[in-house]
Amino acid sequence: MNDIIKTAQDKFEQIILQQLARVEKMKEDKDFIDYGKLDKIVIGVVGGDGIGPAITQQAHRILEFLLQGEKAEFKAIDGCTIERRAECGKAIPDDVLSELKSCHVILKGPTTTPRAGDKWPNIESANVAMRKELDLFANVRPVKVPSEGIDWTFFRENTEGSYALGSKGIHINDDIAMDFCVTTTEGSERIARAAFEYAKKAGKTKVTCVTKANVIKTTDGKFLNICQQVAKDYPGIELDDWYIDIMTAKLVDPKRRTQFQIFVLPNLYGDILTDEAAEFQGGVGTAGSANIGKKYAMFEAIHGSAPRMVEEGRAKYADPCSIIRASVMLLEHIGYTEKAKKLERALDICMYEEKRLVVTGRDTGATGAQFADYVMDTIKSL
Ligand code: IPM
Ligand code: MG
Repeated sequence: MNDIIKTAQDKFEQIILQQLARVEKMKEDKDFIDYGKLDKIVIGVVGGDGIGPAITQQAHRILEFLLQGEKAEFKAIDGCTIERRAECGKAIPDDVLSELKSCHVILKGPTTTPRAGDKWPNIESANVAMRKELDLFANVRPVKVPSEGIDWTFFRENTEGSYALGSKGIHINDDIAMDFCVTTTEGSERIARAAFEYAKKAGKTKVTCVTKANVIKTTDGKFLNICQQVAKDYPGIELDDWYIDIMTAKLVDPKRRTQFQIFVLPNLYGDILTDEAAEFQGGVGTAGSANIGKKYAMFEAIHGSAPRMVEEGRAKYADPCSIIRASVMLLEHIGYTEKAKKLERALDICMYEEKRLVVTGRDTGATGAQFADYVMDTIKSL
């Protein structure tokens, strides 16, 4: 019995030491990178697995088209495939990680996340690892349905909560498994500030914090408490406090949901709520996602890698809309606001208004390449 406890204690000690070191690192990294001051902006392009390379290639073409003659340089980063990751036994192979770190921003296709029982070793998700390695603490996910009055932006904390140690839980013995949830002052404050700063710039009046602080008292309680502290620095912006269960219900209520503007929430609730939210807009395939840190930023499709589409020879029919939406956010983030607006406008026309080509995921619809051409032609006509 004592052995079991000692082994668990040692593991727990390691975890605490790692988290203490992470907090110190966060304290050191104060300022955001200024893209305006760079001579060139290096954009890494990671295809990922499954349909990833096919859809990422289309977003890449559009970005190259929009950034012709600008100070942007593209860098293809191969090897972030499930086969390579399984072979190295690592969420991100070392050579891929150092390539990523040589870029300023990254455009990333979906990567397969193994789970127990798969044909792959149960390694950590590449998304989660990348967010942690590059300290991409703010996962920003906008969802808009203008006809329904929905205009939401989610600020999901991206490096802590139940994800921080998601692959470092402890099997105490055959009977007991334990996972950990981590909330830090620094980590909560930076995501809360990101949400409030965004609200201020966008002229919004309300930020909604979503937790389960009535039950998960320590970690969620801390998150909520820090959001309340940060809110004091933003007079004129109200902080709303909701629990995740009732919030998932209220998002379905057509009257109440139009009142929400900006959300700030811990990692796991953010993961769940943003999938629900994206569904109102047409599904996760239509939403883009930005992962923002102080030094790096990564922009990705929010759907999975759909290996079955590849097995059935349908990769070229995969829908590139989510990763093109992510590209809008990338352009905006590195300072090309006008180009971002143009791409967003063209995408709205192609997806919702004119719909001259429709991607169905099968040969009944357009290929991703045809759709990307359609988007570029639409940009030219704006
Ligand atoms: C997301 C995804 C990831 C997550 C998976 C693939 C690990 O669902 O980006 O929302 O849980 O964060
Ligand atoms: Mg998710």
